[in-house]
Amino acid sequence: MTKTIAVAGKGGTGKTTITALIIDYLARNGKGAVLAIDADPSTNLNLALGVPLYDTVGDVREETATAVGGSRAMGGLSKWDYLDLRINEALVEERAFDLLAMGRPEGPGCYCAANNILRTSVDRLSGSYDYVVIDNEAGLEHLSRRTTQDVDLLLIISDPTLRGIIAAGRVAELIDELDTAVGSAYLVVNRVPGDDLSEPLKAAIAEHKLNLAGLLPADPAINELDAMGQPIVALPEDAPMRRTLEAILSSLDGGL
Ligand SMILES: Nc1ncnc2c1ncn2[C@@H]1O[C@H](COP(=O)(O)OP(=O)(O)OP(=O)(O)O)[C@@H](O)[C@H]1O
Ligand SMILES: [Mg+2]
Repeated sequence: MTKTIAVAGKGGTGKTTITALIIDYLARNGKGAVLAIDADPSTNLNLALGVPLYDTVGDVREETATAVGGSRAMGGLSKWDYLDLRINEALVEERAFDLLAMGRPEGPGCYCAANNILRTSVDRLSGSYDYVVIDNEAGLEHLSRRTTQDVDLLLIISDPTLRGIIAAGRVAELIDELDTAVGSAYLVVNRVPGDDLSEPLKAAIAEHKLNLAGLLPADPAINELDAMGQPIVALPEDAPMRRTLEAILSSLDGGL
């Protein structure tokens, strides 16, 4: 059974940072085969993970849409086999995990047949992993657009601001409108300066009926890595951010 974890929330709240650390946690602890999916068109999960990226699913779609000469241009393969093959080529295979970047979303001239094949292909690929961890762009609409796969665990990330919590509440409301079924959704507040939230923030969390999983500290070690252009996975093992996130993950849904 594949466990799918998606990370969502307002822009700049730490989604990519947290996704990369979750992937690193699963990989380091030998939790099984991990597929990282970068569902943000600005594709920067690979940088956070410190791995190269050559191709995206969007590139593959584009390539098929512009290909002339039908199956001859696809080396005699059926459209299905060709797209499936190209998805596997776009997959970045690392020792501890694999990474697939979705790239640009389909444009107005969207080639729907290719899109459906790609979607099925990504879903089928996902099925062969123990964990699929998805870094999303801000907002949630694409969650239903990119993949038909259900999400077991949705982490909604916020900063410790009222606007952040309100945005998280909006994401939680959107879940009901998605085609994608979500098992459980939790709020994680990131970059918290102390060890508690202000009363107005606590009130907002209660008002929006958000299920708070925990608080992550503002960690200067992360800013140092940023400044040096180092991937987030280079964060020291005993960094407060790592330890707190791991405590949260092991407390959720019977533990990750
Ligand atoms: N706990 C933290 N302590 C200090 N800095 C952090 C922390 N979490 C994230 N950051 C920094 O905040 C910035 C934004 O983080 P990140 O890119 O992970 O956010 P995001 O939600 O993925 O953004 P976007 O919406 O643009 O995809 C980065 O520079 C990151 O290093
Ligand atoms: Mg991001």
